[in-house]
Amino acid sequence: MCGIVGYVGGRRAVDVVVEGLGRLEYRGYDSSGVALVGTGGELVVEKRAGKLANLRSSLAGHSVPPATTGIGHTRWATHGAPTDRNAHPHTDCHERIAVIHNGIIENFAELRNELEDNGHKIDSETDTEVVAHMLEEFADLGLAEAMRRTCRRLEGAFTLLAVSVDEPDTVVGARRNSPLVVGRGEGENFLGSDVAAFIAHTREAIELGQDQVVRLRATEITVTDFEGAPVPTRNYHVNWDASAAEKGGYDHFMLKEIAEQPRAVADTLLGRIGVDGLLTLDEVRLSAEELREINKIIVIACGTSYHAGLIAKYAIEHWAGIPCEVELASEFRYRDPILTRDTLIIVISQSGETMDSLMAVRHAREQRSRVLAICNVNGSTIPREADAVLYTHAGPEIAVASTKAFLTQLVACYLVALYLAQVRGTKFGDEISQIVARLGEMPARVEEVLSTMEPVRELARSLAGERCVLFLGRHVGFPVALEGALKLKELAYMHAEGFAAGELKHGPIALVERGLPVVVVVPSPSGQRVTHEKIVSNIQEIRARGAKTIVIAEEGDTSVEPYADTLVRVPAVPTLLQPLVATVPLQVFACELATAKGHDVDQPRNLAKSVTVE
Ligand code: F6R
Repeated sequence: MCGIVGYVGGRRAVDVVVEGLGRLEYRGYDSSGVALVGTGGELVVEKRAGKLANLRSSLAGHSVPPATTGIGHTRWATHGAPTDRNAHPHTDCHERIAVIHNGIIENFAELRNELEDNGHKIDSETDTEVVAHMLEEFADLGLAEAMRRTCRRLEGAFTLLAVSVDEPDTVVGARRNSPLVVGRGEGENFLGSDVAAFIAHTREAIELGQDQVVRLRATEITVTDFEGAPVPTRNYHVNWDASAAEKGGYDHFMLKEIAEQPRAVADTLLGRIGVDGLLTLDEVRLSAEELREINKIIVIACGTSYHAGLIAKYAIEHWAGIPCEVELASEFRYRDPILTRDTLIIVISQSGETMDSLMAVRHAREQRSRVLAICNVNGSTIPREADAVLYTHAGPEIAVASTKAFLTQLVACYLVALYLAQVRGTKFGDEISQIVARLGEMPARVEEVLSTMEPVRELARSLAGERCVLFLGRHVGFPVALEGALKLKELAYMHAEGFAAGELKHGPIALVERGLPVVVVVPSPSGQRVTHEKIVSNIQEIRARGAKTIVIAEEGDTSVEPYADTLVRVPAVPTLLQPLVATVPLQVFACELATAKGHDVDQPRNLAKSVTVE
């Protein structure tokens, strides 16, 4: 949520910063802006409402000073409408300091009153502008010290970057509860909300901890806490390159990421299966003894990651025999969850920065529960605060709607469930190695699904004029239905609802009318005989009421044929693994339908990739 870039070095800062913003635009696209400090000591601020393209054309319209220090921002609006005036950067009264911000400053109203009493004139409706004025108050102490003093007064979550005409060779950054990483170059250094901001220039990064301030110069990086004490930092090498964060010939990142799923699933399995076919999850850092002590699991996550959690519950309870609850992270700490040392919290987050999930993790840790994070972004906040982590290896996911990260989250959940079964002895070794072997076949199965998607695309285009689509499923097909509906809502802006098919008769069937498209995810007839029979009845019930049925069923399941207006085949796989193949047609469906409606599938309206506010 909000993308931030900073640069100091020998190149034209505007080029480096705007290019970095291009890679971060998925984090927010309500407005964008840059601040550049010219070698003559002048501050140039350019900002525009709307997508980055607006800023680019505005910058192209006049000459930009040859500045080699700059910051840039792409905004997901929280306080204040997405206008030019509310776009970042914001400046102090004398336009000598410029600031950009990601997060929410909760006590900004109080600070604003104080500053106005001291004669500051605050222009915008944002919570950010107060920071520029506070930095001005402390300007005599130098930018880094001014930032430390300011941060000590701020409440809430923030990543801040600032530049000042008094220090044209410096960018200062600060973070609390919001992401910021340093990129180390040769004679130049970078700051970014994530490494994508500078991946085209360097793969050497430094992780910044909580409540830290960094002063960046071309050949010097100084990190302190908010009191000014130097702090140790952790350097790391980014194991993907700029091409992974580019479209690579696809029209949209989402299409590329859907196509990358077989590789992402394979990479997430890589190195985790021993020669004996059993699992080796040493990286989980919880001892066998600790895992045996667990008597309850609570999975917490948001959105698509929550759907992965719902599927994890079936796997954990079936294979490992441990009671498992799944909870939306945003609700978790506002009830009174019963947590003990023997409760394992599994938090699932692609970005590792989602504020609702982070707060839930902190709440659980305060109650002494152990936390295992399933995460896609190395070094992000949630895995750093968890007791243990299992990384998914989806690679960078740029499209706002999650696809490949979801499939890899499922794989990670299966691995955890099977590992618990292995350690606790709830399944015999040969049973586990058989399931693991089937899991190893999944990249090929996902590839098969991808190769048969043309009829799904055609169907999607034919439904572009519809107003509503329902999704039904049973067993693990129910969360798949929820995920199918979420994808359609966020990309095609259509009313889409997912239901447990058994719930239909308790209310939702009233929605069914002639011609309504209803997608039904059918469980395997062999693995789920009873639920399969019941869902075939459900299909007949909705069809009798005029619904247009779109049935997703495994190869060889002939029983659904008479009731399907459109039949989408997926390979027959073990029941619990079916979401890996059944979700893919729903992703393709939503992506194609939204494209047919003319929507931007990579950057759907009102959304941002990484939701760093509660
Ligand atoms: C939907 C989507 C979101 C995220 C949710 C959690 O396509 O991407 O629903 O799944 O915001 O994000 P993470 O997994 O980063 O915590």
